[in-house]
Amino acid sequence: MKTDNTVWHDSHVSAEQRAQQKNQRPCLLWYTGLSGSGKSTIANAVDQLLFEQGNHSYLLDGDNVRHGLNGDLGFTDTDRIENIRRISEVGKLFVDAGLIVSTAFISPFQADRDTARSMFEQGLFIEVFVDTPLAVCESRDPKGLYKKARAGQIKHFTGIDSAYEAPHQPQVIIKTAEHNAQACANQVIDYLKQQGFIN
Ligand code: ADX
Repeated sequence: MKTDNTVWHDSHVSAEQRAQQKNQRPCLLWYTGLSGSGKSTIANAVDQLLFEQGNHSYLLDGDNVRHGLNGDLGFTDTDRIENIRRISEVGKLFVDAGLIVSTAFISPFQADRDTARSMFEQGLFIEVFVDTPLAVCESRDPKGLYKKARAGQIKHFTGIDSAYEAPHQPQVIIKTAEHNAQACANQVIDYLKQQGFIN
């Protein structure tokens, strides 16, 4: 808990110096979309392209983070909000460290994504909407979870009995039902180049 007895220590090395050393502008790519929409696939492909061209990046993936840091959280609205809060805080630390960070979480609520955005300098929070229709996600059903949700074996499943609020003004819109993963990943890379985050 934050108390009057905890103080903020400024670090001797600035965020600008860290970014300069890596020859990139750090930012946060916030992927949002339904389960099975392709968030992790696209985020991984982008991460790999960044790595190959010498950028320093890191991917925080929903399923993986839920094994560790957020292993105590479930899928009630309250838990999802806390999930997103912790990810935003970790993402902010990584951006401060000079990295191009990707987060791949359903993050179904606009208010939580807006709160996350408000923690970053203007322009550094990039909302990437992986806009795959529910019917397509459900037909892919890579983990068999939609089938279980339809059978009532999983409660609060996004798109079935828990809401997904599509972003109002995403910076990038990805259509995985229409383009292959490489083309979708290139769309994100192009955005990063256009905005001067990478060369
Ligand atoms: S979020 O809503 O809190 O952002 P997050 O991305 O971390 O969700 O986790 C979603 C992943 O957890 C899904 O891809 C799926 O594999 C799994 N999962 C398990 N139960 C649920 C559920 N009730 N709703 C959505 N995803 C679930």
